[in-house]
Amino acid sequence: MTNNKSGGGKGRQSLSGGQRQLHTAVKTARKRSVSSARWLERQLNDPYVAASKREGLRSRAAYKLREIDARYNFLKPGQRVIDLGAAPGGWSQVAAESVKSVGGKGQVVAIDYLSFEPIPGVDIIEMDFTDPNAEDLLKSRLRGGKADVVLSDMAAPTVGHAKTDHLRIMGLAEAAAAFAADVLEPGGVFLCKVFQGGTERDLLDMLKRDFKVVRHVKPPASRQESSELYVLATGFRGSQGD
Ligand SMILES: C[S@@+](CC[C@H](N)C(=O)[O-])C[C@H]1O[C@@H](n2cnc3c(N)ncnc32)[C@H](O)[C@@H]1O
Repeated sequence: MTNNKSGGGKGRQSLSGGQRQLHTAVKTARKRSVSSARWLERQLNDPYVAASKREGLRSRAAYKLREIDARYNFLKPGQRVIDLGAAPGGWSQVAAESVKSVGGKGQVVAIDYLSFEPIPGVDIIEMDFTDPNAEDLLKSRLRGGKADVVLSDMAAPTVGHAKTDHLRIMGLAEAAAAFAADVLEPGGVFLCKVFQGGTERDLLDMLKRDFKVVRHVKPPASRQESSELYVLATGFRGSQGD
């Protein structure tokens, strides 16, 4: 990461002890619903939100990637990284810092249908990943057309119908996994958001076939009450053409 404010290094990824702050209570104003007051109170009292502001990170989600990488150590200088569903850019910032993409050593190519502010060392594509042209475009931006790491934090806006929301996120995860199997170098890594209950059987079978190790990870920065979970697949065995 080039932004000095982002701090960095794998020694600073997790927030624990010594991070206590005063609790801010939020009253329900006339125009504020109970749920938005609860959201605001949680934001104001969340140590990850405070730390991300302090460090110049775009999202509290950045800490999820930092924590997972601190434990499994898969982001390294010089790697080519793809970040699917990247807005507002927290994961891309962490990836750019880790692979040292600013000096041109590593590479980070990010995609989202939402636009977001440029990040040094990150090549941003504003497009829906499910667009038929997206995969070729992503590949065309990578050195050698291949990646070492594929990240996906993609999540479609929830509609509040649990089954529909679950199906939509799993559809995105399956599309991300299929792309990872196409674009990764042998030995590559795939990290993807899934939901509680873990990865669907079909996707899990596919990942176990393609990668040496597949594990589910719930980093401390992922809220306990959230059903969010990540699947981390390491040691890509190589695609047909490799
Ligand atoms: C949880 S946010 C990602 C946060 C990001 N990792 C960070 O640290 O800033 C999920 C993102 O996925 C994006 N997304 C969902 N479906 C997508 C799709 N089909 N194509 C591209 N982006 C998508 C959303 O627009 C949203 O910005």
